[in-house]
Amino acid sequence: MLIDAKNVTKAFGAFKAVDDASVSVEEGDILGLIGPNGAGKSTFFNCLTGDLPVTSGTVIFNGADVTRLPPEARAALGLARTFQVPLTFESMSVLDNATIGALLRHHNAREARAKARDVLQRVGLGTSSMHRLKASARLAASGWRSPVRSPPSPRRCCSTRQWPA
Ligand SMILES: Nc1ncnc2c1ncn2[C@@H]1O[C@H](COP(=O)(O)OP(=O)(O)OP(=O)(O)O)[C@@H](O)[C@H]1O
Ligand SMILES: [Mg+2]
Repeated sequence: MLIDAKNVTKAFGAFKAVDDASVSVEEGDILGLIGPNGAGKSTFFNCLTGDLPVTSGTVIFNGADVTRLPPEARAALGLARTFQVPLTFESMSVLDNATIGALLRHHNAREARAKARDVLQRVGLGTSSMHRLKASARLAASGWRSPVRSPPSPRRCCSTRQWPA
């Protein structure tokens, strides 16, 4: 079991935002948590990640009891999150943003850089993808009506009708 949250309760004063919630997640599972506004979804996530301390209950991650660990310690174990409103370090490059994440596990800067490059490539933000996106954006911004793509090299077999790739 990757995540095993048992009987999690989170109270704000007398009000229980999460009341005795349990969830089990196996590695590879994709699990949705649905409920109306104010149902307690975010509060439950915050309890899983350590952004909020639980009032009672336990959170086990990969066999370890992380209930009392702060978020950064849970993240170092591999329990990380994204937020409803994504925030990035806007004044920093895409590579620097990814490197910050990589530094959590790769304390050597060169290794962190390499890991960040690898991940950016995988999510379509690598150098070659960015060049393609920038070229597409430049073309779109020019108000193009009838795009023409340079012909494929003889070794490659693709139709010019595939634009934009
Ligand atoms: N820090 C807090 N102090 C007091 N009450 C809080 C606090 N955080 C959340 N609540 C209350 O707990 C309840 C659950 O809120 P929560 O944000 O977890 O709901 P949610 O299911 O994520 O809602 P949404 O769908 O709007 O994101 C709400 O009634 C909210 O007002
Ligand atoms: Mg929410």
